[in-house]
Amino acid sequence: MRIFDTTLRDGEQAPGAGLTVAEKLEVARALVRLDVDVIEAGFPASSPGDFEAVNRIAKETKGVAVAALARCREGDPQRAVEAIRVAERPHLHVFIATSDIHLKHKLRMTREEALEASVRWVRYGREALGRDAEIEFSAEDASRTDPEFLLRVYEAVVDAGATTVNIPDTVGYAIPAEFGVLVGRVVDLVGNDAVVSVHCHNDLGLATANTLAAVQAGARQLEVTVNGLGERAGNASLEEVVMGLRTRPTQFPGLASRVQTDQIMNASRLVSYLTGFVVQPNKAIVGGNAFAHESGIHQDGVIKNPLTYEIMTPQSVGLAGSTLSIGKLSGRRGLQGKLRELGFELEGEALDAVYREAIALADAKKEVTDADLLAIVGQHASEVGDGIALDGWSVTSSHGGRSTGSVKLAVGEETREAEATGNGPVDALYRAVDEALEPIVGWRLVLDEYEIRAVTAGEDAQGSALVRCHRSTDTGEPPLIATGHGLSTNIIESSLEAYVTAANKLHAAATAAAAGGEAGAAEARGATAGRLP
Ligand code: KIV
Ligand code: ZN
Repeated sequence: MRIFDTTLRDGEQAPGAGLTVAEKLEVARALVRLDVDVIEAGFPASSPGDFEAVNRIAKETKGVAVAALARCREGDPQRAVEAIRVAERPHLHVFIATSDIHLKHKLRMTREEALEASVRWVRYGREALGRDAEIEFSAEDASRTDPEFLLRVYEAVVDAGATTVNIPDTVGYAIPAEFGVLVGRVVDLVGNDAVVSVHCHNDLGLATANTLAAVQAGARQLEVTVNGLGERAGNASLEEVVMGLRTRPTQFPGLASRVQTDQIMNASRLVSYLTGFVVQPNKAIVGGNAFAHESGIHQDGVIKNPLTYEIMTPQSVGLAGSTLSIGKLSGRRGLQGKLRELGFELEGEALDAVYREAIALADAKKEVTDADLLAIVGQHASEVGDGIALDGWSVTSSHGGRSTGSVKLAVGEETREAEATGNGPVDALYRAVDEALEPIVGWRLVLDEYEIRAVTAGEDAQGSALVRCHRSTDTGEPPLIATGHGLSTNIIESSLEAYVTAANKLHAAATAAAAGGEAGAAEARGATAGRLP
């Protein structure tokens, strides 16, 4: 199957997708790595820049045919020939509209005039480029053209020297079964003397379906673009068509393309980056979610055997592997698999604890990322008992005024509430924790360091707070030092959690020391007996 890539011509016609000459060369190199058969490099008569791009691609790319587009009118084909003459395999592509709608309203030509122009410029191409060159003729808006007239045109251009006849569904109007019948009629008429090609647009979302129906009806050249880029809703996408042929070989016996499919992701990312056209997450083959599994049932299936929910391997399109993403519907096994990917082997209660938190986080933000999970696991790894539990908090803060915070803490059987003011919401809450704690434990926390940072990106990022505190003491003993981490989408909450975690470590260490332990007992509970710097 011949793959004709028109990313640099029809793809570049997408509004806003314009590329510089250097960028077009970069894409051409990616297309060579993909091993497409033909690169349609541009429309040389449209601008000096496009002429230069086509000409440079024709000079610099090897092992692939380079095509240039031209209208069937004086000047265009000459410019195209001039641009591609140097190519290893020049491929001239001339076109004219053949539907009555286009002839009457756009070209203001009769059918006979269009037929004459088609023959004239195909003949010109054959004479200008010689007998071995590829001359392709396209009947623009073929799918809305009177089929009898269309067949007359194709027969005439093949007689005049066209080696490929292309059937464009220019406005994405065709339906697969109907399009297959049209392609079949063209194949029956000229299929022995020319390659029948199709060029499908995606206005009804049927570009790939129409292209594959055309293959089954005898088409042997497929015009496609990377990421389905192209005029309006775009063209049939290279990755969908190529992977369709590869994934369902019994439907297309002996008709695989030679495209190196493991280059697909690279080409897709490059085209997206250079054109600024972001690939939608649910885009087939190259979308960010195309190989991501989120629901518990799917994750369970994929872990047991990827064939349950994957019809092609991620490696076959150039990805390292599929991803298990964590969302509200994910299950424990999925999370366990994901954590294993990240290097953590968790089971039982440890897994349950991380799972509960990950699911709660998935409720609070759109996506739980790897960084989120690492932060949750890290926080659990450093947990040291819950002798002091935070049962509630609130804070008020306003511009220019002091903040007031209140907390409710449970220490063993005892519950205490306290309120305090501070020079910010975090300071007010930290003072309130001390107010609540001191009467029970007999000491206050002294904050030595406080740091907050976003662990993940975006407006619903998690804030990770880190504190280092020591226990106030008037005994002359070395103070106990402890760190605490907190993690939440609410940075005040993560700050408070970090403080309470540090308080817990200090409380556990102090209790152990009072029971006759020494520094080792303190360290076992996450606090350190030592001097403050
Ligand atoms: O969509 C179309 O008809 C085209 C032709 C020039 C092939 O792009
Ligand atoms: Zn097109």
